[in-house]
Amino acid sequence: MPDTFPTSGAHTRMGSNSGQPMTRRDGLAKVTGTATYAADNRPEGVLHAVYAMSSEARGQVTSLNVAAALAHPGVVHVMTPENRPPLARDPDSKPGGMALRTEALQDNSVRYVGQPIALVVAQTLEAATEGAALLSPTYAVEPARIGFDGGEAFETDSTGFGSPPTVNVGDIEAGRAAGTHHFDATYETPLQYHNAMEPHAIVAEWDGDHLTIDTPNQAIVMARGAFADYFDIPAENVVLRSPYLGGGFGSKALPIGPQLLTILAARELQRPVKLALRRDQMFGPVMHRGATRQRLRLDMDETGQLTAIDHHTTATTSSFDTFIEGASAASRNTYASPAIATSHSGVRVDTGTPGAMRAPGEATGSAALECAVDEAAEVMGLDPLEFRLRNYAETDPQTGKAFSSKALRECYALGAKSFGWENRPLAPRQMRDAQGHLVGWGMGTALFAAHMNKAEARAVLRADGSAMIATAGADMGQGAWTALAQIAADGLGLGIDQVEFRSGDSTLPNGGVAGGSGHTATAGSALFAAGEGVIRKLADLATEDPESPLFGAGNAGVVARDGRLHRADDDSRSQSYSEILRNAGVEELEGKGEGARDPGHAEARAMFSHGAVFAEVKVDPELGQVRVTRLIGAFAAGRIINPHLARSQLLGGMIWGLGFALMEEGIHDKRTGRPVNGDLAGYHVPVNADVPMVEALMVHEDDDFVNPLGVKGVGELGITGSVGAIANAVWHATGVRPRSFPIHLETLI
Ligand code: MOS
Repeated sequence: MPDTFPTSGAHTRMGSNSGQPMTRRDGLAKVTGTATYAADNRPEGVLHAVYAMSSEARGQVTSLNVAAALAHPGVVHVMTPENRPPLARDPDSKPGGMALRTEALQDNSVRYVGQPIALVVAQTLEAATEGAALLSPTYAVEPARIGFDGGEAFETDSTGFGSPPTVNVGDIEAGRAAGTHHFDATYETPLQYHNAMEPHAIVAEWDGDHLTIDTPNQAIVMARGAFADYFDIPAENVVLRSPYLGGGFGSKALPIGPQLLTILAARELQRPVKLALRRDQMFGPVMHRGATRQRLRLDMDETGQLTAIDHHTTATTSSFDTFIEGASAASRNTYASPAIATSHSGVRVDTGTPGAMRAPGEATGSAALECAVDEAAEVMGLDPLEFRLRNYAETDPQTGKAFSSKALRECYALGAKSFGWENRPLAPRQMRDAQGHLVGWGMGTALFAAHMNKAEARAVLRADGSAMIATAGADMGQGAWTALAQIAADGLGLGIDQVEFRSGDSTLPNGGVAGGSGHTATAGSALFAAGEGVIRKLADLATEDPESPLFGAGNAGVVARDGRLHRADDDSRSQSYSEILRNAGVEELEGKGEGARDPGHAEARAMFSHGAVFAEVKVDPELGQVRVTRLIGAFAAGRIINPHLARSQLLGGMIWGLGFALMEEGIHDKRTGRPVNGDLAGYHVPVNADVPMVEALMVHEDDDFVNPLGVKGVGELGITGSVGAIANAVWHATGVRPRSFPIHLETLI
C-alpha cells in the first residue's frame, strides 16, 4: 500500500507518526499512581455499597435479616428484591445493546454462587461490609449442577453473541470416506476467569434526571445507552467516564454485573454511591470463559492432505443466559479441507454467565485444533510444520473468498528460522538438557478475524495550527490511546505533540467497543477520517485564496504534512495551517469521521490476522513439572501503527496462552458450586518467573481491503496458536499427548 492513499480531496498520509514505537501516553500517570481509576473517585457525601453474595448455587433465598443490617451503625439502606425500585426496561430483556442479562435483584432465586442477593449501602465501606454480613441469608437449596456431566444439555441456536452454531462446507461424509488416515480425539478446556488487576467498580451520582457514572468500560457509549434505557432518560443525560481501565479482557465490555444496582441506590438515596468489587466477587457476576469439550475428527489422504475436518464443541453456560464459547469456529478458516463440519451444543450449569474473554471461541478452539493437527501430523509421520504447509488455506475454507492479505507462510518461515525448528527430531523424548530435563519443541498456527465495528470521531483545527481530536474510546492498558493518537495526528498532518487527543468519556463521539481486537482499526479509521475532513476544508480555504501559494492547486492538489499544506506538484510551495486560517479569518475548522468496514470489501474478501508460534518446554521427568523456556511468535497483522505496543500486545497474548496451557483453571466444588480457588492465590496466572524468553516478530503485510489504514488487529491474536504450541511441545518432550487444559503435571508422569 502506498504511504499516501487517495481520498476525495486533499491528501493526508500515514507514516510520520504511525509506525513509530512511541511509549504509552498514559504510562507515566499509571506507574506513578496519579491515574484516577473509577474507585479512586470520592465525590462529596459519597456512600459505600457492598453487595451480599449468594453462598449457594441454586435455589431460593428464604430470608434476609434486613433489620439487623439496618441496625448496624452507619448502614443507611438495604436493597433486596422486595424493595428494589422499578426499572423502565426489564434487565432480562437486554436493553441498549446488552447481549446478556444484567444483575438487578430480579427475584429471590439464586442461580450461582457469588450472585448479588442484596445491596447494602452505608457511610463507610466497613459498615457496608458488616451490614452485608449481618443479613445472614437462609436458603432453600437445590443441588448444584456443575461440570459437563452434572449440567443440563441443550441444543444452542447461537454461539458467542449470536453467531451461527453450525457451519458446514462440502460433504463431510464424502470427505471422511476419502481419507485413508483418521484421527479422532476429544479435548477439554476449563472455566477461566478474567480477573483484571482492577476489579469492577462504579461511582454513580444523580442530579435530577442527569446521571454521572465513573466506571471502567470497554464500550462507553453503548453502556451509556443501556443505563439511559433502564431509567428512561435521554442518553445525553448520562455521562459515563472511563479514563483508565486496569485491564478488561472482555469482562468490562458489558456492564452486566451489580453496577446497575449502585445507580439505583444513588437515585433512591439522592447521594453519590460507590461500589468496588472484591477479588472474590470477580468469580461470578462479571462473566468468565465457559468450559469446553471439543471432539475433533480429522481425515487425511495418503499425502497428508486433509479431506475432512469435523469439530464439535460442547460448552458450559449459565442456567439463565445464552453465551456459548464458539470454539469450533476455529476450524472454519485455518486449514484447507474440501469438507468441514463445525457445530456446538451447550450444557447449563449453576455458575455465573460466561461471556467474552480474551479471544472468546478462538482461544479455546485454536487450542484444540492445533493439538489435533499436531496429532494428525504424527499419524502421517510428518513434521508438524510440513503438515500445516500441506494443508495451507490459499483461500478462506469457509467462504472460498480470497484473503484480503495472508502472510502466514512468511510467518511460518520467520518463526521456524528464529526458533531453529529445522533441528527438531520427529519423534518425542529425543532431547534432554544438561540437568536431565526432557526438552520438547512444538508449534501452532495463530489466527484471528480482522474485525471492525463502527466508530465516530471529531477533529477541530485551532487558530494556532494545533488540533483537538476526540472519540469515546477505551484504553484497557493496551496502549490504544497512544496508537489512536498517532493515527489521529497523521490524519491531521500534524506531529503528535500538536494534537490534543480526548477519549474515555461518553460525551465524545461514539468510539465503538475496545474489543474483538478491532479498536485500532475502527476508532483509528474514524479519527483518520475526521482529520482528513478538516484538511479538506483547510485545502478549500487555501486553494481558493488568490494570495496563497496554493491558489488554484485544487483540493486534491495539496498534501498535508507537519502542519503545512504543500502543493502536490511542487513541494516547495506551502503554507502553514495557522496562516491559512488567519488569512481566511477563520477561528477553527471542524471535521467529522466515521470508521466502519466498506461493505463491498467485506463481501469480496475474508479478513484475518495470522501468525505462527513456536514453543520450547522442559519437563522434569520425575515430577512432571513443565517450564516453558522459549516462546517465539511471528505475526502478520496488516499495518503496525506502533511496533512497540503491538509487540507488547502480542507478548501479552502469548503469555495468556502460557497461562491457558499450564495454569488457568476456575474450579467449582461439584457439591456446592462454590469456587474453590476464587482468588489470585488459588487462580494461577503466569508471573514474571513463569515467563521465559518470549519474543513476537512482525511480518510485513499490506492490506488494501480491511480499511483505508490497512490495520488489522493484534489484541487477541497471540493467545491463538500459543496454547497448542506449548501442548505440542509437552508431547514432544514426554511422549504424552495433553488433551485437557491446563496440563496437570500428574498426567505427564
Ligand atoms: Mo474482548 S474478549 O474482545 O474484550
